[in-house]
Amino acid sequence: MQGQLDMEGALTARDQVGIQDFVLLDETTEAAFLSNLKKRFSRDLIYTYIGTLLVSVNPYKDLDIYNKKEMELYMGVNFFELPPHIYALADNAYHTMLAEFNNHFILISGESGAGKTEASKKILQYYAVSCPSTTLLNTVRDKMLMSNPVLEAFGNAKTLKNDNSSRFGKYMDIQFDSQGDAVGGHILNYLLEKSRVVHQNHGERNFHIFYQLVEGGEEDLLHQLGLHRDCQHYNYLTQGECAIVSSINDRNDWKTVKNALQIINIDEINTNHLFGIVASVLHLGNVQFDSNSKGHALLNNNSELRWVSNLLGVDAHRLQEGLTYRKIEARKDLVLSPFTIDHAIYARDALAKALYGQTFTWLVKRINESMENKDPSRKTVIGLLDIYGFEVFYVNSFEQFCINYCNEKLQQLFIQLTLKAEQEEYEAEGIEWEPVQFFNNKIICDLIEEKHRGIISIMDEECLRPGDVTDLTFLERLEEKMGNHPHFVTHKLADKMTRFLDKNNDLLYRNIKDLICQSKNAIVRECFSTVDPDSRRRPETVATQFKSSLLKLTEILMAKEAWYIRCLKSNEMKQPGQLDETLIRHQVKYLGLMEHLRVRRAGFAYRRKYEIFLKRYKPLCPATWPHWRGVPAEGVEVLVQHLGYLPNEYKMGRTKIFIRHPRTLYATEDAYEKCKHELATRLQAKYRGYRAKGEFRKQKEAATKIETCWRGVQARKEREKRAWAVKVIKKFIKGYMTRGQLKNTDNSEYLAFVRQNYLNRLKNNLPKTVLDKTTWQSPPAVLTETSEILRKLHYRLMVRKYVRGITPQKKAQLQMKLVTSSIFKGKKDSYPQSVAQPFVNTRISEQDINMRVLQTIRNEHIKYSVPVIKYDRNGFKPRPRQLILTQTAAYVIEEAKIKQRVLYTTLKGISVSNLTDGMIVFHITDGDPKQKGDLIMQCDHLFEFLTKLSLIANKQNAIKVVQGSIKIEIQAGKESAVDFSTGLEPMVYKAKNGHLMVVATRARTR
Ligand SMILES: Nc1ncnc2c1ncn2[C@@H]1O[C@H](COP(=O)(O)OP(=O)(O)OP(=O)(O)O)[C@@H](O)[C@H]1O
Ligand SMILES: [Mg+2]
Repeated sequence: MQGQLDMEGALTARDQVGIQDFVLLDETTEAAFLSNLKKRFSRDLIYTYIGTLLVSVNPYKDLDIYNKKEMELYMGVNFFELPPHIYALADNAYHTMLAEFNNHFILISGESGAGKTEASKKILQYYAVSCPSTTLLNTVRDKMLMSNPVLEAFGNAKTLKNDNSSRFGKYMDIQFDSQGDAVGGHILNYLLEKSRVVHQNHGERNFHIFYQLVEGGEEDLLHQLGLHRDCQHYNYLTQGECAIVSSINDRNDWKTVKNALQIINIDEINTNHLFGIVASVLHLGNVQFDSNSKGHALLNNNSELRWVSNLLGVDAHRLQEGLTYRKIEARKDLVLSPFTIDHAIYARDALAKALYGQTFTWLVKRINESMENKDPSRKTVIGLLDIYGFEVFYVNSFEQFCINYCNEKLQQLFIQLTLKAEQEEYEAEGIEWEPVQFFNNKIICDLIEEKHRGIISIMDEECLRPGDVTDLTFLERLEEKMGNHPHFVTHKLADKMTRFLDKNNDLLYRNIKDLICQSKNAIVRECFSTVDPDSRRRPETVATQFKSSLLKLTEILMAKEAWYIRCLKSNEMKQPGQLDETLIRHQVKYLGLMEHLRVRRAGFAYRRKYEIFLKRYKPLCPATWPHWRGVPAEGVEVLVQHLGYLPNEYKMGRTKIFIRHPRTLYATEDAYEKCKHELATRLQAKYRGYRAKGEFRKQKEAATKIETCWRGVQARKEREKRAWAVKVIKKFIKGYMTRGQLKNTDNSEYLAFVRQNYLNRLKNNLPKTVLDKTTWQSPPAVLTETSEILRKLHYRLMVRKYVRGITPQKKAQLQMKLVTSSIFKGKKDSYPQSVAQPFVNTRISEQDINMRVLQTIRNEHIKYSVPVIKYDRNGFKPRPRQLILTQTAAYVIEEAKIKQRVLYTTLKGISVSNLTDGMIVFHITDGDPKQKGDLIMQCDHLFEFLTKLSLIANKQNAIKVVQGSIKIEIQAGKESAVDFSTGLEPMVYKAKNGHLMVVATRARTR
């Protein structure tokens, strides 16, 4: 149980505001304890742990730590993860209960005003929010929550210590089903401080309900109850002289209580009866007595008495009798013995207390009925024990004795449970127990409750003892019996009668008891009818009853797992932000907090299950990080060895490691903190990497997807294209195969294509000249005819274009060329080359002809001149000469000299070779003696010269193209020859045979 000693959160926060767990204090001194508490309190940190025990300091101001958000923060969170809080304890108890399916209780202790009731309310509120809920459960939950204002109205009062002091002890079980739903509740109440009904110390009030009724009660109701809206009017409300308190709003509280009564199923009739009783108590308080001459009590105000009898439904006369006489049995006769005033007052107050006390018990019963869960299935419970706190006044009465006894008893239980738990844990873990020094208050409990020897026994004896017994005689007995007891001290307050014995007896006079048993008020009747009126047995005294009820409570608690909240009161003035060190030190002492701390530390400040220890600190050792695959205990051993723990600093239990000093742990924790940052950075980097990778992967996936889609689109396009191509090719092939047929569906497209294709080809490759007869594209079969037509058309067109482009000069030229062609074509090798060379008018302009020559032949009209090489007839010496053709003759000129004149009429023939040379032989008529023989010349413009000559002299037929040799006449009768041959180089020389040898180069074949 005790859960784990959860302090990791405390470790983390220790440098911030004090230490969250006292167990981790370096030294367990009171000074260190107080200083830590003070440090935290100054920052409004009112909660601190001692292990799983919660220390709470009353802040006397509203802190913003009890809202829904805060509750949600603590739900299901491990104890040590968050700063100490009452919610953490409540949540841990709840989850342990659910997990272990066992019963728990939370013991809230501390002195009056320390905040116990507030704490218990906070826990209840937490469960109301944190547990699963349904409509049905919500009503149970509402009843549990709303039982508080009712019980507080009837059981709490303003005291000097606390404006809302619980004047009864309360133990409330919250029942949970196996699902963890809060399904029911049950309250046990302990000893209500009834004396308050009739008496309040200065500065204190009666129970809240009286003021709430008087201040807040509706007019009608007050009228019905015979009440005045004035607290000062009632004796029972004015003794403390503080009916009105600023911190209390009775009117508002009245409304809350009325509403709460409805929720806890108290119907209107019972509500009326209930307030009838409350009012009757107020009226009773105003019943006054006078004494007659004999000293007997007499009633002086009948109207108040009538209201009482009225409200309680009892006979007024008998009531009056009951308050002023006592019935005594004397030898079987009943004798009425009159009261003194004191006795009458005693009887009156006894009635008031009894009425109120029983009504309170009835209320608790009713609340229990309304919260009861009748489902028989097994439930687990969390008990909340909010008992009245220790209180010490200047004058302490029977109630303080009981209250403080109760607190001692609970302290004893606490010691037993915690010591036991600690020892058991050590035993279970196989660790040697090291005894701890602490004050065990068993001796005090024994002093009070020991049979026959304890204070309660002596008090009971004193109550029974016949004769005159008073508080003083009781005191004497005590001193006599236990004067030597080390913890027994007496104070004699001679003038203060505190009625110890009366209160212990708590007697209600018989006749009054009989009377109210017949009350017409149903609540009263129900409350008192259980008391057997005929029983002669003396009822148990109050102290003895209380002792037994505490014993029972101890048994109830012992059977459950305990959680503790120790409430500390910060100051006596109920001021926020003030910490009274003396007061705190006092509480720390009597609550045994230091002892608890020491027990808790018993040798070892820290213990933790191996798994948990390893889980937290494993990053500190390479062998355990990131995973320890073996047994956790061994992992922890390796880890602490690595950290350098010394053998006496820790012990290995069966399931836990025990660490002796906090400083060892702090060092580990410091290392962990440092390491955590490094780890965080590393993890962060890893995580970022992971994220980036993820992002990259995502992008890649997207890219792949897009790519796939795109490829799909492409593939589809490609497929379509191919299908189309196949179709086209098929069609093409079919067209090709049927191209010879007449135009049909199969070949029409193909033929069209072929036609177009041919025409295109033709267009780009048309012959450029008329001469070009080869370029014409050969047509496909279908176009043979068309092609022929086109060809003709095209040639005609070209011819026309050509013809149109011819000038008169060109025409003359062509006509000359035509003559040349008729003479030489196919005869002389150099002819084809000459065709392209245009003829010119003359090769020597007139300026270049000597003036004298010109003068001589001018009248003959020079038609053409050309430079030639003339070969002598004798030695075939070459001589450059000008040759001039006139209308009538050809002249051979050397400068100014006309060397030879050849009349055309004498020119019998002209011979040239068939080779490429430029040799020309003029055969001149024999008969002319002036002629010097044949003229042998070489001319570069042979074709031009001879064409001109033939045209001028009409000599076309005189020109001969000769092969091999040309005979020449050198002189009359003397012949020679010009021989022609071909060679690599053109040469002209006189051969040995006396002939002129002309070597021509071979004509270049085109
Ligand atoms: N956690 C808290 N936050 C704010 N105020 C608190 C807190 N706890 C207690 N108080 C204040 O202290 C007052 C006294 O608290 P509470 O009634 O719980 O004391 P108690 O321990 O039950 O005393 P008693 O033994 O007299 O019943 C409350 O009325 C409230 O004003
Ligand atoms: Mg209280």
